[in-house]
Amino acid sequence: MRINELFFILFVLNLKDFFYRKKKYSIDTNGVVTKKSFSNIALIKYWGKQKNKIQIPLNSSISYSLEDVYTVTRLIYHLKERKKRNFSVRVFFSGKEENRFIPKILEFFHRISFYCSYLRDFHFVIETENTFPHSSGIASSASSMSALALCIMEIERKLVSSLKEDFFLRKASFLARLGSGSACRSIYPGLVVWGIHKSIKGSNNLYAIPYPYQVHPIFTEMVDTILVIDEEPKEISSSKGHQLMNNNPYAKERFKCAHKNMERLISILKVGDLQDFGELIEHEALSLHAMIMTSHPYFLWMKPNTLNVLYKVWDFRKQSRKNIYFTLDAGANVHLLYPIQEKKFIMKLIDNDLLSYCKKIIESFCK
Ligand code: PMV
Repeated sequence: MRINELFFILFVLNLKDFFYRKKKYSIDTNGVVTKKSFSNIALIKYWGKQKNKIQIPLNSSISYSLEDVYTVTRLIYHLKERKKRNFSVRVFFSGKEENRFIPKILEFFHRISFYCSYLRDFHFVIETENTFPHSSGIASSASSMSALALCIMEIERKLVSSLKEDFFLRKASFLARLGSGSACRSIYPGLVVWGIHKSIKGSNNLYAIPYPYQVHPIFTEMVDTILVIDEEPKEISSSKGHQLMNNNPYAKERFKCAHKNMERLISILKVGDLQDFGELIEHEALSLHAMIMTSHPYFLWMKPNTLNVLYKVWDFRKQSRKNIYFTLDAGANVHLLYPIQEKKFIMKLIDNDLLSYCKKIIESFCK
């Protein structure tokens, strides 16, 4: 635990409620909880963490939760007969035991045990499934860490019967953040903000909040069609990528720009200007990729087919004047964002001109 984070928690935001201190349990000794959590796609990207702190962003970010792209996790718990200091966990992914996920989960448990002291008292079996390919640039760590955080909070709810719903979600977001930064945004549906921004009331670095301002109806009915161009695991993990921002020569300007883009997005969301929205999210996506391309060492996440798709989208937009825009995550896949009213035309474009560049497509409402 970093001293200044602890200080922030206890005194600035008065989050001491996040600590669980009860010694005796009134829980059944065995049980199972099941939770579903969305993936999310950032419009303003989180890229870069504060040094020597656990998952504290260097700029605020905002995402859409993806209603149809999600993880379902079952957390089976058995109260240990004798208390031991070690965590005890087995992980099954799509029905198969997967020991490769254990180190990440143990690290997560270690980080959150400060706030969930009961974790060491149980044996856990985690059974998890995604509706989308693992490690393909679709935020699998966001939906899986947030689903696990929600399951843990469901156990806490059994321990503390008076737990209120807003506290449940806030602490779930706080815990999820400690597993994977962007996971804290997956706790809520719709538009979700994480990270302090002076113009967003309630925004903070420790957990995400639902976007608190007026949103034009056009932005409540958006679709994300994900063009999966590459299903292979990424060459560089996002934690390594965040770290590279510490020495990126353009990092300072990037954080300033993200801050300004958030300011712009607030008014775009209010007035419903789709063209400005599109220009802003494409700029954000390319800025994220520019950061990884200019890091030391440098990487290129885009594949030739990523570029083929981007050029086709620009051409199609010019010719048809339809509102279709792209954003990118930390990978080669392309997210096409458009209002539901445009779906018929866009599906035609995808079928005729884009499908040949993709391994598969995944469709989701941004809700
Ligand atoms: O949550 P992490 O550490 O995997 O970071 C992911 C960051 C991006 O997905 C690239 C952008 C974002 O804001 O989601």
